[in-house]
Amino acid sequence: MGIVALGYLGLGVKDLDRWRKFATTDVLGFEEMGTAPDGTLYLRMDEYHHRFAVRPSGEDDVIYVGWEVANAQDIDVMANRLRTAGVNVTEGTPEECANRKVVRLIKFQDPAGSPLEIFHGALQLWEQPFKPSRSISGFKTKTADGQPMGLGHMILFQKDLKAAIPFYRDLLGLKISDYIDLDGPMPGLGVATFFHVNPRHHSIALIQVPAPKHLQHFMVELNNLDDIGQTYYKVQEIGVPLSLTLGRHTNDHMLSFYMQSPSGFDIEYGWGGRLIDDSKWVVQQHVAAATWGHQVPKRAPVQQPVQAG
Ligand SMILES: [Fe+2]
Repeated sequence: MGIVALGYLGLGVKDLDRWRKFATTDVLGFEEMGTAPDGTLYLRMDEYHHRFAVRPSGEDDVIYVGWEVANAQDIDVMANRLRTAGVNVTEGTPEECANRKVVRLIKFQDPAGSPLEIFHGALQLWEQPFKPSRSISGFKTKTADGQPMGLGHMILFQKDLKAAIPFYRDLLGLKISDYIDLDGPMPGLGVATFFHVNPRHHSIALIQVPAPKHLQHFMVELNNLDDIGQTYYKVQEIGVPLSLTLGRHTNDHMLSFYMQSPSGFDIEYGWGGRLIDDSKWVVQQHVAAATWGHQVPKRAPVQQPVQAG
């Protein structure tokens, strides 16, 4: 079956205490799920034990990306395919599986050196319902009929899209959703490529930017439009820098805003993204990222060079 969802993200951060407040009661609304022996803070957004693991290791970047498959056989298929193509694949240790709270994982890197994992058997806590840490409706991680949509999406910087696109499409089996030519709105940034693995419009997009880090932004989707509006004003009241104002994207139709995380990379807080039905979807291209809004706020610090999708 291949990859079914973007399952978890590991973030290495400098300021764990600031992240703990930002990700829970101050802004994002995740549920705090305790810490691992290595100091990793677990953050929950649905029935999975956690979707985000924040480790005080100082990178201020993504330190691992967890792609979910259905079972151990699918891990074997993916590992064989990657190894046949010359990718160095290592088996996750029992300690790493315990840290991620999965049955098994393998580790490898994409062409830009982004640390990727494929796992199965994530711990889910149906007996302990998700409890957001502030008053929000919760996060959309599955369709109305229960198909997994994963934690949201992320944008990764790539050094060479000519190498990265075949890696994600042909080796990992992701499907291209569409493209946004950013050279119009943001000259020099080229074409962003968006990929899906389930009905979520994209689980990952790639842009060719010579950035020192891997993660440009990640997005989480809320169940209720009011959560976006209320949080949009809350972050401005408490001084979280906005990176892009409220707006709606051309390709996934997400109504969202972008803010700066305590690590400098951006976080998109969104609602209302359109779903992809592979039996009907045709690949599209766009020359604008927003149908309205998503403007760089005046006087706000913006540390990342691009916003897309
Ligand atoms: Fe996004």
